[in-house]
Amino acid sequence: DPNFSSAPKLELEELLQTLDQKINWDGRKLVKYNGFWFPMPFFPPIISTQKHFKAKDSDILLASVPKSGTTWLKALMFCIANRNIYTIDQNPLLTSNPHLLVPFLELGLYFHQENPDLQHLSDPRFFSSHIPFNILPNSIRDSECKIIFICRSPLDQFISSYHFLLDNKFEKDAVPLELDEAFDMFCEGIHSWGPFWDHILGYWNAHLKNPEKVLFLKYEDLKEDIAFHIKKIAEFMGYPFSEEELKQGVVDQIKKMCSLENLKNLEVNKCGYVQGIMKNSSFFRKGEVGDWTNYLTPAMAERVKKVMESKFGGYGLRF
Ligand code: A3P
Repeated sequence: DPNFSSAPKLELEELLQTLDQKINWDGRKLVKYNGFWFPMPFFPPIISTQKHFKAKDSDILLASVPKSGTTWLKALMFCIANRNIYTIDQNPLLTSNPHLLVPFLELGLYFHQENPDLQHLSDPRFFSSHIPFNILPNSIRDSECKIIFICRSPLDQFISSYHFLLDNKFEKDAVPLELDEAFDMFCEGIHSWGPFWDHILGYWNAHLKNPEKVLFLKYEDLKEDIAFHIKKIAEFMGYPFSEEELKQGVVDQIKKMCSLENLKNLEVNKCGYVQGIMKNSSFFRKGEVGDWTNYLTPAMAERVKKVMESKFGGYGLRF
């Protein structure tokens, strides 16, 4: 359980009494806050993050819908920024899960303490979060802090999420619902960090408003041309590649270091846990575009397509 002092705990309990709650298909409690459903254990840390985190102009936040390529992006960001610090065979990615190198706010730093001391982190600081745009701490939105957002086709995100939750079995005694029932809940927006559509639209609109501040990425695009995106991400982060580096094949080295095959087969990622609860190995599965076709019917896909058209149609967003 997160370790909070008693005063905020009381405030939280009062707040919780005013909020809707439901059980997710995997047996975990969800709570609805500002229009989004959050897994109960992460609700207090979300409130703490909102209340205490102060962004600096030089910070970079990796924001994402879970199961959309967060781990991949963390590895890429780390490699891009530290390419002149470590040689290839000394890269900390070889011995640490990417989630240790770019910490989560609400799932990490603010999960263990209500107001952690971040003084020891050197600038520029990189963090990550699954918090929707409108619930982020004000200082992230109001400062020059940059945001890199990644999302993914809802069908693949749903399937990836389904596997992740079954693999980790957070609610030990619960009997999870069948895939089609979980899918119904997904379409209705009742799932961890959902509704999916609203989460994405928040960052999409922020990107349209200020593309210098919010970089909007899709997993599918990264899979299609990772070298192009490594360069794009590096430029956005303020670490562009020199001609010399391009000639030396530095982009290709980063691509290889961060590939699913490489990370998945490292000893460090085959065992152990992230935050003591999520298996390191559960972050590396298939990494394929279109894996949903192995699990969902064309009718299910059609249903999602219709929801997407109604939610995204007017905003020029497609998957
Ligand atoms: P699948 O379950 O479809 O395989 P997140 O990091 O946001 O939790 O997302 C996890 C998804 O990204 C999983 O998708 C996982 O396999 C995939 N993934 C993890 N590392 C990757 C990498 N280095 N390259 C491509 N995909 C990766």
